[in-house]
Amino acid sequence: MQLRRPLVTMAAYAGGALFAVSLLGFAAYSLRFGLRGVGTDLSDETYIYTPGGPFVNIAIFSHMILGGVAMVLAPVQLSSRIRMRLPRLHRVTGRVIVGASIAVALGGLAYIALRGTIAGPLMDLGFALYGGLMLGCAVQVLRLARAGDFERHSAWALRLFVLVLGSLIYRLHYVVWFILTGGAWSADDLTGPFDKVQYFAFYIPYLIALEVWIRRRRTARPA
Ligand code: HEM
Repeated sequence: MQLRRPLVTMAAYAGGALFAVSLLGFAAYSLRFGLRGVGTDLSDETYIYTPGGPFVNIAIFSHMILGGVAMVLAPVQLSSRIRMRLPRLHRVTGRVIVGASIAVALGGLAYIALRGTIAGPLMDLGFALYGGLMLGCAVQVLRLARAGDFERHSAWALRLFVLVLGSLIYRLHYVVWFILTGGAWSADDLTGPFDKVQYFAFYIPYLIALEVWIRRRRTARPA
């Protein structure tokens, strides 16, 4: 029994460290991919590049750059120590994350409208809903901070945080699934049964879990 607690703590630290490494790795990949796509013709390398489509290329590749930035800054923004000790830094990074999230969502939505996702209408729907939610959360975070309603501001900031991490969670689901099953029910063009569940499963269950947690915290707090 006494030995179990340090083991659980160690497992939590190891899990957190692994998650942090994945986050930094994916953010670096996203930044690099975006920077290359903004400045170079990548049509030989990826279907995401549109030959002769400067607007759609700027939309999707700047989306990757700003997505990488938001992903690295978002966990820092949750630190209550930084918020208390360095409120100006909290405000500046908050504005960067909100601005980047709005641009990421708009860039992704523009790409869906102009090109469509690799797997077609159902994936378009899953990702358009994801983008719409990110846009809505980012606007709420800003609006409620300006209105001085910090209780609701922090709830919307947590929702935005979950959505910013969603893009990483999407890839992590695939890593775990491929390790466990070797890629069953997944196709190269992302149209397999597993892929179809993933169009929604990287953000909806996490948003529901967060909602439950927010409501429990509210009712547990003394009036
Ligand atoms: C912080 C958040 C995000 C990051 C870091 C990010 C990053 C990326 C990256 C790196 C890619 C290239 C594909 C790959 O190599 O895996 C991509 C593609 C894409 N992203 Fe995002 N993204 C984010 C959020 C969003 C949101 C909110 C939307 C919804 C509007 C979205 C829509 C798309 C679409 C439609 C594609 C192309 C999918 C395809 O057909 O293959 N992303 N994103």
